[in-house]
Amino acid sequence: MTRATYLRMLAAMIVLTVVISVVMLQFDWNGTAGSTEADEIDTLTDVMIVVSSFVYSIVLVMLGYSIWRFRAKPGDESDGDAVHGNTRLEIAWTLIPTVIVLVAAAYSWVILDRIEAREPDRLNVNVTAQQFAWQFEYPEQGVTSTELHVPVDRQTEFSMQAIDVIHSFWVPEWRVKKDLVPGQTTHVTATPNLEGSFALVCTELCGIGHSTMRAPVVVESQEDFDAWVADQEKDEASEAGGGAVEDPAEEADAGEALFAEQGCSGCHTLSAAGSTADIGPALDEVLPGQSPADIETSIIDPDSELSEGFGQAIMPDNFGDSLDEEQLQSLVDYLVASTEGQGAK
Ligand code: CUA
Repeated sequence: MTRATYLRMLAAMIVLTVVISVVMLQFDWNGTAGSTEADEIDTLTDVMIVVSSFVYSIVLVMLGYSIWRFRAKPGDESDGDAVHGNTRLEIAWTLIPTVIVLVAAAYSWVILDRIEAREPDRLNVNVTAQQFAWQFEYPEQGVTSTELHVPVDRQTEFSMQAIDVIHSFWVPEWRVKKDLVPGQTTHVTATPNLEGSFALVCTELCGIGHSTMRAPVVVESQEDFDAWVADQEKDEASEAGGGAVEDPAEEADAGEALFAEQGCSGCHTLSAAGSTADIGPALDEVLPGQSPADIETSIIDPDSELSEGFGQAIMPDNFGDSLDEEQLQSLVDYLVASTEGQGAK
């Protein structure tokens, strides 16, 4: 191969790299970016797209050249030359990809290091996942919620635990993703820089209700966040006030909150709660006529009696452990109250 051919092929590779990169970079691959991590990760993606375009161009140009240069002349039925190898070529095609992979790895490492650096003024949130619900505890504020509220432009560290199976934490706009593994606490940080309402999505197949396992995410100013915390504190104080819950309306509230927090609404239709999921039986249909004791049994030992059309082990069987006596009572009372008077069977 002459020097001129080399240069021409190199020029073709560079032109092709530019053309492919320009086309591929037009796509909005990851959607709206809503955190400082997202900006870094999107830049990394773009760099990888350009590097991949270059590798792809090398392959395409070499392939095109070989097809054209070594094609058989019409009527030539003879065998090709027997070639045992080409040491220089083999060293080149081992070294070049190695260098590309090492550079990409080093760059990714730098970005990961920057993303995982902890800020001293970060907010801490403990995340608990279970089939099929999320719960957020703010240890410094003493607040627990089923909605994730975080202040804008401030790092939040999520310390995460799973009660039953592996789940995965993902807010697409923040890009970062991390699994929650039973028996282990995993951590992920994000610094949201875009205010608004988003969704936390479970991104690890965790059972039949996986696709419904979402939680609202609100990114707001520090003042709005503080106001929300104060609001939550007031609610919790009124719930805790006076020990045993005496007011039936308050008890119904507690049951209604549990119905959402514990993930019941992710699987069951209950018109009183506005839930429409159909992974488990519709409670409006199966509960009327059941005694409170039967309903309690169905919560703590769901496989003891199954509704028609629903199989074993669909519903988690650990509510007897995760709910205390009082919570169980509120939930049963809420279910009885909200299905009372509906068509008895
Ligand atoms: Cu939890 Cu998928």
